[in-house]
Amino acid sequence: MNPTDRPRRLRTDGIRPVVSETSLDATDLMAPVFVDATTDERVAIESMPGHERVPVEEAVARVTEVQETGVEAVMVFGIPASKDPEGRRAWAEDGVVQEAVRRITRETDVYVATDVCMCEYTDHGHCGILERGAREDAHLTVDNDATLDHLARIARSHAAAGADMVAPSGMMDGMVGAIREELDATGHAECAIMSYAAKYESAFYGPFRDAADGAPAFGDRRHYQMDPANAREALREVRLDVEQGADVLMVKPALPYLDIVRRVRETFDHPVAAYNVSGEYAMLHAANEKGWLSLEETALESLLSIKRAGADLILTYFAEDVADHL
Ligand code: PBG
Repeated sequence: MNPTDRPRRLRTDGIRPVVSETSLDATDLMAPVFVDATTDERVAIESMPGHERVPVEEAVARVTEVQETGVEAVMVFGIPASKDPEGRRAWAEDGVVQEAVRRITRETDVYVATDVCMCEYTDHGHCGILERGAREDAHLTVDNDATLDHLARIARSHAAAGADMVAPSGMMDGMVGAIREELDATGHAECAIMSYAAKYESAFYGPFRDAADGAPAFGDRRHYQMDPANAREALREVRLDVEQGADVLMVKPALPYLDIVRRVRETFDHPVAAYNVSGEYAMLHAANEKGWLSLEETALESLLSIKRAGADLILTYFAEDVADHL
């Protein structure tokens, strides 16, 4: 029997790139950068090979390294000098992110997004301020509405320092609206919001929590981050953020949630971002170290898959390495 249709005809070297459906470009990528107020030299992040926490003085140098690979956007995370129950260093004018962003925007032309969350700044490591639940035996939980004021303040301080985009990652109800309102009222209408709209309670964040020193001191984040079992709920979460004025919609993590990336892509017209998180990075490195798979090829294939699923931009710790090969 001769096959009537032969897809293999289009797999020769000459035509393969011509009929390729998905492309990956350095300009699709955003690189996370960690700035640390507790150190005056660069500190390697053990669980994320190749990544470092840099002091404020090195923030511009770090960003310049990113730009040299062709990546034109960064996401700044901060590790503050001190922590307290309210996370006060998160909105300090001389806070670590504010200082770093001021320097970066003064001295480079990189596009600067900032992570707006409280877990690196609170001594309990949760993404907001705490309250005890209504029942007598209730556990401490994050007070949603009280946290909104803090998030708005943090976002405003980042915008005032020069951030082009703020990215709230705490999964508080109403966070995008609260931030949009504050930015508009304080002369920062140009500052965009990329919402971590569908952020799951994921074990793939493990290495990041070492990197940013933001692990919860007790309990977990199940009462604010999403249940991995839910997909329809993600669309509901994303819709709320669209209604509140989000400019870019993020799904996080990426690889275990490509179905969500695809559904968000198909349901909304906004740009979709996917966060290829620390665990997705660390597991490829670990397997590569064992000689079990090729880091370069699996990283590239991962990012291509995320784009194919529908992401317009990808936050990834592979940004620099992959951009160098594109
Ligand atoms: C802070 C935040 C986290 C990540 C990004 N912002 C950690 C968390 O929610 O525990 C994770 C990023 C990664 O794993 O690469 N809310």
